[in-house]
Amino acid sequence: MSYPFQITSQEQYEMAYRVSINEPDQFWASVADNFLWRKKWDNVLEWNFKDPKVKWFQGGKLNITENCIDRHLKTMGEKPAFIWEPNNPEDRVRVVTYNRLHKRVCQVAQMLKNNGVKKGDRVCIYMGMIPELVYAILGCARIGAIHSVIFGGFSAQSIADRLEDAQAEYIITCDGAYRGGKDIPLKNVIDDALVGNKKVKNVIVYTRTRIPVSMIKGRDLWWEDEMEHAEAQVEKDGVVSFPAEEMDAEDPLFILYTSGSTGKPKGVVHSSAGYMIWTTYTFVNVFQYKPGDIHFCTADIGWITGHSYICYGPLCAGATSVMFEGIPTWPDAGRLWDIVDKHNVNILYTAPTAIRSLMGFGLEPLKGKDLSSLRTLGTVGEPINEEAWHWYDDNIGKNKCPIVDTWWQTETGGILISNLAGITPARPAWATLPLPGVQPVLVDENGKEASPNPSDGGALVTSGNLCIKAPWPGIIRTTWGDHDRCRQNYFATYENLYFTGDGALEDEQGNFRITGRVDDVLNVSGHRIGTAEVENAINMHAGVVESAVVGYPHALKGQGIYAYVIYNGHHGDESSRRQDILQTVTRVIGPIAKPDKIQFVSGLPKTRSGKIMRRILRKIAEGDTANLGDTTTLLDPAVVDDIKNNKL
Ligand code: WT7
Repeated sequence: MSYPFQITSQEQYEMAYRVSINEPDQFWASVADNFLWRKKWDNVLEWNFKDPKVKWFQGGKLNITENCIDRHLKTMGEKPAFIWEPNNPEDRVRVVTYNRLHKRVCQVAQMLKNNGVKKGDRVCIYMGMIPELVYAILGCARIGAIHSVIFGGFSAQSIADRLEDAQAEYIITCDGAYRGGKDIPLKNVIDDALVGNKKVKNVIVYTRTRIPVSMIKGRDLWWEDEMEHAEAQVEKDGVVSFPAEEMDAEDPLFILYTSGSTGKPKGVVHSSAGYMIWTTYTFVNVFQYKPGDIHFCTADIGWITGHSYICYGPLCAGATSVMFEGIPTWPDAGRLWDIVDKHNVNILYTAPTAIRSLMGFGLEPLKGKDLSSLRTLGTVGEPINEEAWHWYDDNIGKNKCPIVDTWWQTETGGILISNLAGITPARPAWATLPLPGVQPVLVDENGKEASPNPSDGGALVTSGNLCIKAPWPGIIRTTWGDHDRCRQNYFATYENLYFTGDGALEDEQGNFRITGRVDDVLNVSGHRIGTAEVENAINMHAGVVESAVVGYPHALKGQGIYAYVIYNGHHGDESSRRQDILQTVTRVIGPIAKPDKIQFVSGLPKTRSGKIMRRILRKIAEGDTANLGDTTTLLDPAVVDDIKNNKL
């Protein structure tokens, strides 16, 4: 049986969904037939959530870069894969065709091989948003090395931890990166991260900003020299080739570190075949991609959104993507609209935090910008408030473009719950329906399926913790180096379910509204930050005795970071102590984890067993001090009054 790869009507969606649940093997085999395999699979799916063990397309052999590049060359070698828009709008736009991408990726693969990189080796990539970043990622995938991209906003300490955890032996970086008005000295940060590191053999450095960098003999190599050498090896008589490594369907493709409720980030591992199929299938269906479309995802490739919807998904689909080096508000708040106008963007995928921040500039930055090329709008990263949804709909989509509210996570590889643009209905603030193969369920604290209750309007609504009943091809396979951690984190809370960490509502038609995290994870401007990680960083400051971190509603960022700190030092006044703590957090994690508010307190509300009552701290941070609930079990109820009275 063969089913259409792209769903084009509501009925087809319903049919695809039904078949994907009732006949998953048949359904996914049919989807997988749309890809290039060296050898087809023996078995579509084998799984249990107890270990957990998830194996899709076992026995299948492939290389994802042949799917992203080689198979397009015959028919669309001269089609742009990327249109690169530089940070500075006056600089030259670069257009990377599929032919050019092929050549560069072959060169990177050869360059890595020349330096001893082998299948399964870990390569850390710390670069700005430039085409070379994509070449580096795909060059790794071509030789079967496992890439671990680290977002440019992470500190040397964070990089050092990730290098250590992944036991990475190679790094690809840039001298520096441009982001808005800032020049970020990436190579310097890498040098700091490498102090004491004995594992890393080579650091390959691409020149972007030409700031001075230290180059250590025997370790550091210039990208340009290495690539020139590799060019002569991969190109013979005008024909470019570098044989792609044959990968097992379940071989790891990459590691991406993400925060959880513990103090230490986890290395989420994605597979070769399942991830490829999931990102491509969801890209084509959710955004309703049409050949020739210009797709613009504003995310950074340092996060999963960029991996899946700038790099792998669109390339596998043969799409043209706009890759943007800069930020939406620089040099002014019209930057995204200029780019849409200039490159005739058809699909725009961005985050609620960006929309809210641009809303704040009013309609002036939109004047004279032709946005008529837009057909589909998307959002991701956090719940979108109705006001932002309507602003996006009215002013950017002019009420003509469906908005897809795409719910997913680093661990899910691609979108799990979303409307399909123009095919299934959109509804402000609701992610709506699950993709084929995705079986969401809401459970109560005890893991029992939650039951519906009448809501204000009388309709039945179910509220609970969002879990998924069975694997989809893009699901996380393990956490790097520690499989039990993967089990503990995602599969142990509720028996036989994948637990997302999110709370949600479900209406009678099976539409979902994501209400936010129910664990100790914050979502700040669409970035995931564990409260325990921030506490660890704050506690590293010499004057700090103890701290507790919670989230609170923030108009632009979605959530802000509120830190309660017991301070015992004698150095400086409150304001300079705050600055020192911020500097410490910047050093330990990076600027993205800096608390918005730091309140010095004399004590923290603890139970008699010593557990911090975060519920109370959260309420106070939210400004809801009248409703603190039961505080009688506290060791010292008086600290609560003190905290309340000195609230920031
Ligand atoms: C968390 C995952 C998925 C790429 C970006 C973030 C929140 C994500 C939505 C949405 C409401 C959303 C969830 C999720 N989230 N998309 N459309 N509506 N919440 O990836 O860093 O892994 O974070 O982001 O809380 O668990 P991430």
